[in-house]
Amino acid sequence: MTKNEIIEQLNEDRTAALFGEADRVRRLHCGNAVHLRGLIEFSNCCGRDCLYCGLRRSNRELKRYRMSVEEVFAAAQAAAKIGYQSVVLQSGENDQYPLFDLCGLIARIKSELKVAVTLSLGEKTREEYAALKDAGADRYLLRFETSSEKLFRALKPDSSYDERLRCLRWLGELGYQVGSGIMVGLPGQTMEMIADDILLMKELDLDMVGIGPFIANPCTPLKDAASGTLELTLKTLAIIRIVTRNTHIPATTAMGSIDPKGRQKALQCGANVLMPNVTPTRYRSLYQLYPNKICISDAPADCAGCIAGMVASLDRTIATGPGHSLKRN
Ligand code: SAM
Ligand code: SF4
Ligand code: FES
Repeated sequence: MTKNEIIEQLNEDRTAALFGEADRVRRLHCGNAVHLRGLIEFSNCCGRDCLYCGLRRSNRELKRYRMSVEEVFAAAQAAAKIGYQSVVLQSGENDQYPLFDLCGLIARIKSELKVAVTLSLGEKTREEYAALKDAGADRYLLRFETSSEKLFRALKPDSSYDERLRCLRWLGELGYQVGSGIMVGLPGQTMEMIADDILLMKELDLDMVGIGPFIANPCTPLKDAASGTLELTLKTLAIIRIVTRNTHIPATTAMGSIDPKGRQKALQCGANVLMPNVTPTRYRSLYQLYPNKICISDAPADCAGCIAGMVASLDRTIATGPGHSLKRN
């Protein structure tokens, strides 16, 4: 698709044909199975000040936590016991979690639980990424958030767009399966920018693409901004599926948080991954990137049951295996 064709589709109100085509492309390139990744939000400490995010360091209303190595391992163990063959370790950026501890944790999860490990820890040095890879990490998620440098600078005042893209390049060079993505409906974002975002995703030849609607958080400077809509998020998702073909694309928590059927709808227009939360319940309410986040008072087993029902209701199956990149088989 050309940039103009993408913009046209983003502006189109009739979505049936687009969604149908995305579903067809998903079936053809990814099959009917849905991959599950158990998400462990192990620390809400963050050294950055992104304007959109509830974890930003200037949000003094938030009680901070950092799970111990033992607690994270126990959460990963619980995920493996449920049957998830892949876990995602996510936290704030520069959260001061000792690199040595992280590496030991990853090595232990890999050797004892035999699950795939994805990291989502933000920007790090090349040496740190290399150490985490050597410890056994398989994948890394780092959204570029927007391909507009100007908007990036406005929303992430203490980060650099070039550095973010450099990190993505390093991750690829180090042999990680790389995921990136954006928020849809950011204040100041245009259809043209979203089209550029999609073309950048294609150019980066990503293994995974994660997107979600921007959701305004009352504890941030963007509290009065309009949130993104599910409709535009789904159109963006469908186009990403058609353009990138065989990437792993999750139906994200943010989609489920702005619409009770958000994730089900995403699975029907291109998504092939779900990320059930396996964070211990007592920490969940503290990992509030945005308001009305789903699963805040649920336990890992509740989410597992809910997800199994969701997948079955759509006549899809749950994938077996770790669900590695479809580009490297
Ligand atoms: N700190 C790491 C980073 O920024 O890459 C990883 C964790 S961060 C919480 C994960 C993602 O949450 C970000 O990439 C961003 O897209 C998303 N996010 C943050 N605030 C959000 C909001 N208000 N609405 C929707 N998504 C949000
Ligand atoms: Fe920190 Fe990530 Fe939130 Fe930015 S998006 S404030 S880096 S947790
Ligand atoms: Fe957590 Fe539905 S996925 S309760």
